[in-house]
Amino acid sequence: MIYPIVKFGNPVLEKTSEPVTVFDDELKKLIEDMFESMYAAHGVGLAAPQIGIGKRIAVIDVTFKEDPKAKLVLVNPEIIRTEGKHTQSEGCLSIPDFRENVTRPNKVTVRAQDANGKFFEKTGEELLARAFLHETDHLNGKLYISHVSALKRDLMKRKIRKLIKAGEW
Ligand code: NI
Repeated sequence: MIYPIVKFGNPVLEKTSEPVTVFDDELKKLIEDMFESMYAAHGVGLAAPQIGIGKRIAVIDVTFKEDPKAKLVLVNPEIIRTEGKHTQSEGCLSIPDFRENVTRPNKVTVRAQDANGKFFEKTGEELLARAFLHETDHLNGKLYISHVSALKRDLMKRKIRKLIKAGEW
């Protein structure tokens, strides 16, 4: 099932999501639906609040279907190590048609559970590192625009408010 993507302005995006405690078929179905929704929206990462579900689940595929092994499920993820710095243009499915340069650590290790509840650690660099941070931020009610300057952020918010007013958001 493809869920519509929740956009900036919806309070679910700015709330801390709840930990997952039950690893059942329902969770597996939700994860499947999250991948489907992410691909349908042409994204490489999606967090559950972005489909209106306040649970600590994120899916990532930085290869966008090219490498099936690159599909990653992060349940209850925690960033445990970061290293270096990397600046790159970043976007978010919940803030369509906007991008800004964001500086984040270049090498990131995440600790998370998989769809069966099994704990694992994974280290990523550049785009994957960025995805770990961006999606974990989502689960803490934080959007990438919180990492840009207040000036740029206010400008974006003003543009978005105009779009909302015009019924184009
Ligand atoms: Ni996002």
